[in-house]
Amino acid sequence: MKQKKLLYAGKAKTVYRTDTKGKLIVEFRDDITAFDGGKKDVLKNKGSYNAEVSAFVFRYLEENGVKTHFVKMLDPRHMVVNELSMIPLEVIVRNIAAGSIVRNYPFKEGSKLNPPVIVIDYKDDSRHDPMLNDDLIVALKLATPQELRKIKKMALEVNALLARLLAAQGITLVDFKIEFGRKGKTICLGDEISMDSMRLWDKKTGESLDKDVYRFNKGDVMAIYNTVATRITRSKKKR
Ligand code: ATP
Ligand code: TYD
Repeated sequence: MKQKKLLYAGKAKTVYRTDTKGKLIVEFRDDITAFDGGKKDVLKNKGSYNAEVSAFVFRYLEENGVKTHFVKMLDPRHMVVNELSMIPLEVIVRNIAAGSIVRNYPFKEGSKLNPPVIVIDYKDDSRHDPMLNDDLIVALKLATPQELRKIKKMALEVNALLARLLAAQGITLVDFKIEFGRKGKTICLGDEISMDSMRLWDKKTGESLDKDVYRFNKGDVMAIYNTVATRITRSKKKR
């Protein structure tokens, strides 16, 4: 498969067309950003750790009946995916209160959210990704009510599967963000699921094992990404 025209260069990934219709190549770059792009760095090998975890999680979800865009890896940082018509929603599932939900609402950091809380933001950097509700999503024609039901159902399925996979490695899934797109009429999971898009805590020590290490200078980001990638992908043998 040949990489062709650049389609989109985002904050951490670059998307290319290929010589095969409907297939794209996603390059996971070493760029890392936080606070709406206010903090930026390049961390060697970050892209490949995130790509490895994303590929592993997408394969695991597919095996468990979740439709994703994942096709195959070309090399450690290039992923072939099915082109989706992306829905500009950031679908966040929260099992434990942390991050913006603690800053914006009277939740105590670390308190359990059971049932999990789904928060959906409008993916629009120029507006700083404002939070939506069901009526706004439908009024803005971002998704039909039926699509929205499907998206929420899939988000909770992904949460249950992912939480179980990570728990087996002694990792608590605090929260995560996913994106969806349409392939014809089918809603598929797109983008990535990685240490950049999940909030993970070590079950025993409570230590952050994700982008919070970078956001809040909590330690050696790449050493932690490396260990977490190994822990997550090791769970293959246990399944
Ligand atoms: P953010 O960091 O807020 O997610 P971004 O646009 O900067 O935004 P990147 O991850 O750098 O994010 O860019 C990847 C882009 O590719 C995103 O816009 C994402 O929606 C898009 N994308 C992901 N999967 C697919 C797919 N299967 N088909 C088409 N576009 C996709
Ligand atoms: P959130 O607590 O809303 O934001 P922050 O981490 O900036 O305080 O994030 C919830 C989860 O969703 C967290 O695991 C990070 C992820 N996320 C993204 O990957 N991209 C985003 O644009 C947002 C808002 C969250």
